[in-house]
Amino acid sequence: MRIPDNFIKDLKLAVEGQKMIKWAEDNMPVLCKIKNRFEKERPLEGERVSACLHITKETAVLMKVLYLGGADVSLCASNPISTQDAIASALVEDGMRVYGIRGEDIEQYYSSIAFSLSSKPTITIDDGADLVGILHQLHYKEETYETKIITEILGEDSRKLIDNIHGGCEETTTGIIRLRNMAKNNVLRYPIIAVNDARSKSLFDNPIGTGQSALDGILRATNTLIAGKNVVVVGYGRVGSGIAERFKGMGSKVTIIEVDPISALRAVMFGFNVDTLENASKYGDIFITATGNLNVIRKEHIQKMKNQAILANAGHFDVEISKNDFKTLEKTKSTIRQNLDQYTLPNGNKIYLLAEGRLVNLGSAEGHPSEVMDLSFSVQALSVEYIVKNKGQLSNTVINLPTDIDTNIARMKLEEIGIKIDRLTEEQQKYLYDWNQGTN
Ligand code: NAI
Repeated sequence: MRIPDNFIKDLKLAVEGQKMIKWAEDNMPVLCKIKNRFEKERPLEGERVSACLHITKETAVLMKVLYLGGADVSLCASNPISTQDAIASALVEDGMRVYGIRGEDIEQYYSSIAFSLSSKPTITIDDGADLVGILHQLHYKEETYETKIITEILGEDSRKLIDNIHGGCEETTTGIIRLRNMAKNNVLRYPIIAVNDARSKSLFDNPIGTGQSALDGILRATNTLIAGKNVVVVGYGRVGSGIAERFKGMGSKVTIIEVDPISALRAVMFGFNVDTLENASKYGDIFITATGNLNVIRKEHIQKMKNQAILANAGHFDVEISKNDFKTLEKTKSTIRQNLDQYTLPNGNKIYLLAEGRLVNLGSAEGHPSEVMDLSFSVQALSVEYIVKNKGQLSNTVINLPTDIDTNIARMKLEEIGIKIDRLTEEQQKYLYDWNQGTN
């Protein structure tokens, strides 16, 4: 099959997209600094990067950095409803291969992955491990829905694509969990940098970025009043704790649902109400899942919910709110507007599901603000460079970015926003590493 140069909605949107990318760039000073260095040093010369990321203006800035660093870049969407069509067009206008249209169906989604992999990448970048997962399924000769689509487009030779790859990067918690399981089972065939686990990513992107953008997504879909509402956040990890703080700040009464005693206790001590989902289902006005887990909100919860309860998900996959249970429960379903579906239950209650249960902050808003993605995508860019510098020397496992690179990203960000911090004195450094000091 002939591989198309791109799969985008409309090239005419490029002008709008270019303005948005420029806006993002102006708010991503650290990544732009890396871009300037990459442009001079061309550290990625000869590399082919295939990236499966949300096609947003911030991703566009990252793609340009890699491209100017010398890499051949091809980009496909990491979610069927998060693509910003104008951005995809702008990147194509700039000479990159982009595959993704907002609202594409699942066959188009996996075909786009195939088109992106047709470049025979040497490095992969994932948000949710779809590329790595498919490359491994192909390698291990698994016959799945996904491999069928890929082999139909790229032929049986696609099963050897993995042999070209010397490293990959993973953006999110859910992807890292899968990859660590692969490494544990000795099936991971190339090294992966855990971008998500860099402190300059996960301490900012997961809580602050998702906190703000999930709230933004819920508002854009519903324009509901936040103040005074009972908001139930399911999962009080890095993402959930950020969402809880933001809703608290807007005047909601926030309840946390957890399964981990330590996270639950943290929530208690940060001043939140902690309850079981069974109880909270009766009084919640807005429910937001952020667990990375499966079927968290189920039939038995939905049946107990108040009329006009709103449900949204911020976890990676659209599996946290059981859509199957919705289907079995619904009497009628109607779409009020984009990202706002109303399900009427047999008891007459109307329950609203936002963004089809997919990531609400990307489906119904624009994802994290550029200032936050400046950090996450600086980690991505430097992780790609790290893979190239250490080609052939990394083991086939999930690897953390070295602390000095991670810390330096935060240092650059502080410089860019004009904040100075103290440094340890020599005496303090010595004291901290000394084991020979006791009570005076
Ligand atoms: P995390 O591991 O820090 O937190 C998850 C929390 O959920 C844990 O405290 C865990 O105990 C809890 N949990 C698991 N199953 C549960 C259940 N059945 N009921 C209640 N609590 C449960 O993970 P993190 O970093 O907060 O990520 C959560 C999800 O959000 C992942 O899928 C991740 O990939 C995704 N994510 C989404 C972003 C977005 O833009 N929307 C950004 C970053 C991450």
